[in-house]
Amino acid sequence: MTEQDFLPKSYSNFPDNGFVKWKAPSNIALVKYWGKKPVQIPANPSVSFTLDTCATTTSIAFTKKDEQEAFSFDLLFEGKPREDFKPKIQTFFERVEKYLPFLKEYHFQIETSNSFPHSSGIASSASGMAALSMCLMDIEKQLNPEMDDTLFYTKASFLARLGSGSACRSVKGDLVQWGAHENIPNSSDEFGVPYPFEVHEVFKSYCDTILLVHKGEKQVSSTVGHNLMHGHPYAETRFQQAFDNLDALKPILAKGDLEGFIKIVESEALTLHAMMMTSMPYFILMKPNTLEIINKIWEYREETKVPVCFTLDAGANVHVLYPLNHKEEVQKFIDQKLAQYCENGQYINDQVGKGAVEIKG
Ligand code: PMV
Repeated sequence: MTEQDFLPKSYSNFPDNGFVKWKAPSNIALVKYWGKKPVQIPANPSVSFTLDTCATTTSIAFTKKDEQEAFSFDLLFEGKPREDFKPKIQTFFERVEKYLPFLKEYHFQIETSNSFPHSSGIASSASGMAALSMCLMDIEKQLNPEMDDTLFYTKASFLARLGSGSACRSVKGDLVQWGAHENIPNSSDEFGVPYPFEVHEVFKSYCDTILLVHKGEKQVSSTVGHNLMHGHPYAETRFQQAFDNLDALKPILAKGDLEGFIKIVESEALTLHAMMMTSMPYFILMKPNTLEIINKIWEYREETKVPVCFTLDAGANVHVLYPLNHKEEVQKFIDQKLAQYCENGQYINDQVGKGAVEIKG
């Protein structure tokens, strides 16, 4: 599928009003996307676990309007109007209007909420943009009931990408790949695809406990962060490394090779942060407690041989990754040794999930 497939030809139906509601999860990248070209085209491919618990639920009540000059929408976040969120939606609507030509025909009442605490340092843009895109596709499907499922989900991922790059990996589960790679069939820079190769059972129920080390606003927005890769002295080597890591992951994911998995995932996390430390301007997004946790994980793994590892986003929080059959002992380890490094001892238990779902009623 290409961008051309997402330009609708005509609509057969124009309901006066309607209501749609979807829940979309967050995701955590194993091979990281860091660096992009306009518009939201990744500099390198990435692959992620779709999560389950950390999610955004969004509903849209839509009503036909007379005037069709401008977009018209209200936005409620966790029950309250949020004017400050509106410019992001406005920009998103402008970007996707070409693909959703009905946008100016309706007024939209958008209500959205997150399952995780606001300002927990967990990025809500992936789940938020994915949930919004699912709602918009659901409306488009009412205008064009013939649309098949492949187009529905692929276009949802395509739209989500235009909202926030990594959001395109939050539409489907369990593992999603995004970014053209010559050895990955159907891979595309324009949308995420379910990881097309064999995946061992162990990875289908993998656990991710998110340790909330620092709940404040991110010091570097991802827009600024991606831009730091322009003219970065190590950019080309890093992009190539991501391509190579995707190749290297293929047999690891197929065989359930946990040792190989840990090496790539931890190296990817540290490389992401190394890119930020070596850019101009430079940033350190890890906090002292991030490093305490990493060292404790390494000690624990060495002593117990339990295959637990970490990954990081562009922030100080730590994602602790481990197989479901080690959950009991890892939970004990987290409570006894890691929770003390979290703000107010807080963490969120999540695991690999199935992607966006419609909420009925
Ligand atoms: O989707 P964005 O623009 O917020 O970028 C996300 C980048 C990372 O989370 C750091 C890595 C990734 O692949 O998700």
